[in-house]
Amino acid sequence: MAKEWTPKSWRGMPIEQAPTYPDLAALADTEKRLSSFPPLVFAGEARKLTRALGEVAEGRGFLLQGGDCAESFAEHGADNIRDFFRAFLQMAVVLTFAASQPVVKVGRIAGQFAKPRTAPTETKGDVTLPIYRGDIVNGIEFDETSRVPNPERQLEAYRQSAATLNLLRAFAQGGYANLDNVHQWMLGFISGSPQGERYGSLADRISETMNFMRAIGITADTHPSLRETDFFTSHEALLLGYEEALTRVDSTSGDWYATSGHMIWIGDRTRQLENAHVEFCRGIKNPLGLKCGPSLEPDALLRLIDVLNPQNKPGRLTLITRFGHEKVQAHLPKLIRAVEREGRKVVWSCDPMHGNTISVNGYKTRPFDRILQEVERFFEVHHAEGTHAGGIHIEMTGKDVTECTGGSRMVSADDLSDRYHTHCDPRLNAYQALELAFLVAELLKKDVAAQPKQAANF
Ligand code: PEP
Ligand code: CO
Repeated sequence: MAKEWTPKSWRGMPIEQAPTYPDLAALADTEKRLSSFPPLVFAGEARKLTRALGEVAEGRGFLLQGGDCAESFAEHGADNIRDFFRAFLQMAVVLTFAASQPVVKVGRIAGQFAKPRTAPTETKGDVTLPIYRGDIVNGIEFDETSRVPNPERQLEAYRQSAATLNLLRAFAQGGYANLDNVHQWMLGFISGSPQGERYGSLADRISETMNFMRAIGITADTHPSLRETDFFTSHEALLLGYEEALTRVDSTSGDWYATSGHMIWIGDRTRQLENAHVEFCRGIKNPLGLKCGPSLEPDALLRLIDVLNPQNKPGRLTLITRFGHEKVQAHLPKLIRAVEREGRKVVWSCDPMHGNTISVNGYKTRPFDRILQEVERFFEVHHAEGTHAGGIHIEMTGKDVTECTGGSRMVSADDLSDRYHTHCDPRLNAYQALELAFLVAELLKKDVAAQPKQAANF
């Protein structure tokens, strides 16, 4: 690993999952343009998220991270962003109410465009083309023009990220997230369902509490935390040229920050210690995620932690474990024990999606019961080890899609073809996301029953 870190010190190192651009001059030109564009997020915001995650690392809070597997250019629009935000707020309020702890809200959104893939090419009949790597790299359509990596797409990804973020900031700070609106966040199509009813009665209790507080003089005017919320963005830092172009020095601290999103993570396929992705991420000060799959051994994890969080700062590093429902009990304890033995401060978060993907009727899907089971087992293991189950990381949408099978409003294998819209992995629909939130709420309640109470800002 290079001693001296710079935003471009990853170049020339071994790298996985990098697209092959045919026109390198055009790529360099795009990166140069991006490097002159305004930052999307600010260092102070990233530091605020690190502080919030630091509390989670110390056992005082819970991380809710979720959104699309891959954002798509075609689906970019106000309705999709609003519906996602509503579903996400509903989940967050369910969790906050149950845990009486702050819920740190981080979307996989406003920059989640680049995808790691298993194979570099795709073959249909006798035609072989580059694999689809996310809209920031190439197009999903199976034809030569779409599939050739095109740097111009990075400019569109930047533009869409900026517009999405702008709307999210307005929603989070401009009154939409006001707890007085807790009923209005309910998505229309959910209202008659069991999850909708359960959410409705929780919202009634919150409204009652708000009325009581208003009567004694505590209102959204006197307490801003009742009318606005902190919402952060995140994505996988996969396309390093794009990330480098948006990496800037913070004038107040002199530190480097990725300004493409508040938190970025390293994927399970690009976490090699000596490679480019780890090199890039070690030098920026944003909070980082590290995906931990079944092939990660405790010693390798400790070496990665040494490099990514040498100062052992709580909140800097979130370990996002994604083993699969059958493997979590075999793999998670040994990682926890190694981290505990070495006294490393991390947030433990459970991604119950990526280890539970199967193929049914030609569709990639995830059975909902396996997703629930991985989350339950994640909590059980943390209970047994005496550590804090700190968060969940999920792929979800605010729409009524049919991509994951199961759930109390059953999506069957035959339903998958109805509304299967994802550009990459199958997402929880809004019902399934809310159902998962209620399950996690139960698990959290058990967790906090034994702990002292503290203030929870929504
Ligand atoms: C993802 O989060 O979409 C992803 C590809 O995950 P992982 O790196 O864990 O496979
Ligand atoms: Co995915």
